[in-house]
Amino acid sequence: MTGIDATSMRTDLCGRLGRDDAGRTVTVCGWVDRRREHSEHLAFVDLRDHSGVLQCVVDGARDLRSEFVVRITGTVRRRPEGTANPALATGEVELQDCDVELLSRAEPPPFPLDERTEVDETLRLRHRYVDLRKSRMQHNLRARAAVNRAIRRAMDAQGFVEVETPMLIASTPEGARDFVVPSRKEPGSFYALPQSPQIFKQLTMVGGVDRYYQIARCLRDEDLRADRQFEFCQLDVEASFASRDDVLGFVTRAVAEATVEVAGHDPGTFGRMTWHDAMERFGSDKPDTRFGMELAELTPVFAGTQARVFQAPCTKGICLTGGADSLPRSRVDELVATCQSWGAKGLAWMRVVHAADSIGSALDGGVAKFLSSDEAAGVIEALDARPGDMVFLVADERRLVRHVLGLLRLELGRPPVNDGSFNYLWVLDFPLFEALSAEGDPIPSHHPFTMPHADDLPLLMAGDGPPRGEALLDVRSQAYDLVLNGWELGSGSVRIHRRDVQQRIFEVLGIAPDEARERFGFLLDAFRYGAPPHAGFAVGLDRLAALLVGEENIREVIAFPKTQSGADPLTGAPSPIADTHLRELGLRVLPPA
Ligand code: AMO
Ligand code: AMP
Repeated sequence: MTGIDATSMRTDLCGRLGRDDAGRTVTVCGWVDRRREHSEHLAFVDLRDHSGVLQCVVDGARDLRSEFVVRITGTVRRRPEGTANPALATGEVELQDCDVELLSRAEPPPFPLDERTEVDETLRLRHRYVDLRKSRMQHNLRARAAVNRAIRRAMDAQGFVEVETPMLIASTPEGARDFVVPSRKEPGSFYALPQSPQIFKQLTMVGGVDRYYQIARCLRDEDLRADRQFEFCQLDVEASFASRDDVLGFVTRAVAEATVEVAGHDPGTFGRMTWHDAMERFGSDKPDTRFGMELAELTPVFAGTQARVFQAPCTKGICLTGGADSLPRSRVDELVATCQSWGAKGLAWMRVVHAADSIGSALDGGVAKFLSSDEAAGVIEALDARPGDMVFLVADERRLVRHVLGLLRLELGRPPVNDGSFNYLWVLDFPLFEALSAEGDPIPSHHPFTMPHADDLPLLMAGDGPPRGEALLDVRSQAYDLVLNGWELGSGSVRIHRRDVQQRIFEVLGIAPDEARERFGFLLDAFRYGAPPHAGFAVGLDRLAALLVGEENIREVIAFPKTQSGADPLTGAPSPIADTHLRELGLRVLPPA
């Protein structure tokens, strides 16, 4: 045996052989990638393992078919002049005088294993064991392992202790639906699977662990999307006697080291922005800062306007450089319809042209005829628009304007996911509540253990009862997100460790004392016995791994994911269980409603 790649069955990996190995007799194992006839007796057999492909010249290979598993012993030689294949890492060599041992026959694969053919995803997932043989999947799985490795190294170096928390628990308050597991010993009772280790990690702080981390499995029954699975993984972090900035520092180091490990370059300083600025400038709490096209404030420009369209509480705009030339009218009409589908009343657009004096700029087309000359000048200035550009304006309630223009900005300017840049951004000072429900109750932005912003705490704690109504939406929290290229990568907060504050938050959320006791009593009890101030964070590792390898869908970095509809075509899950099993659990299944 030679290097670390050797086993009792092979001396080398296919993809690692090169010109320096010429003359060596080696044994390699793997799958037949391709067979091509060379002459009457000789064939080229491309042998594949996870490291790559090696060309072997085999005598009498007639019965070797694609995906057969073989072991080949032969001599490495430089390929004859002019026959090297620069597209292949091993393209300068081949194996000759080959001895082939058939280890396993294979049926024809359910789909071609090249990287070019588009294959239906359900088919891929049904035969994931075949799909995983592709170099892209091998690369992704190994990149994911590298992310975990770098993270563990960084967390260890910062004094964090890896603690495992239970999977069979009572409900967690992350806001999604729980997956539940029926109890056999107590029919009619259920465990919930953790939506996150949130409460347990806080309990480790009360338990004096000081710095906790875990690469944690989380389960949430929610609608799946490209960046969401039922089961996913978090780098979960919590630290005692630590401030927000301490947590930001710990997480920055772990994520930066993972980026270096996988993408090979240091992402540099992570940007910082308040939630308020993110919403006003990018129309999103997860701004993609790889490109500009920021939302400009135009409300003052249209204060007192005669144009009916802009007689609204808020007007903002964006400018598409060169858009006047690049966007055909049909595309503009499409954009108007798209913005309407997002909730806007309309989308106002205008081309930027040379002014009559050919010195400045003017607006033309679309709604330009409704604008006064001051308004036109104001729009051009606020958007820094130049001749050849196209400007888009939306007027409405501020929330809606931000939302629609934020989406339009992405539609018009978002770079591809794999453009090789990694723009990490901390979004700070999230509001404590994201909206009011139809009944006027506030809906928390994060979980209910999030500490209000120190400056806004008096507002919340003052008086005999909590404040109500719109005023609540101005209360900021000590919650923060990490954003990468426009994806929400993680969330965290400084936690409430004061019982009076926690009680007030429950009151504001309309969680009655009884209900609070029932749902989180054990945490509240724990806080009676000495809770250190603490803060934490969780990074979505599937999302991090996907972005680092340039995949748009987290399923591409998960070995055995579910389909968009939540099924596992490989094992057939979810599936009915036997009546005897149901009886044992004290369950009866009702016919579908
Ligand atoms: P949060 O619910 O924001 O915070 O989750 C943190 C991060 O986990 C990832 N994530 C998901 N990834 C894939 N599929 C999903 N269904 C999914 N849901 C969430 C995201 C998200 O940013 N306990 C808190 C953290 C804390 O306060 O410390 C929590 O879980 O990347
Ligand atoms: P209307 O006067 O409704 O025909 O609208 C004239 C133009 O203004 C159309 O291009 C609409 O898409 C656009 N528009 C209408 N309402 C709004 C709005 N609230 N914000 C931005 N553009 C709008």
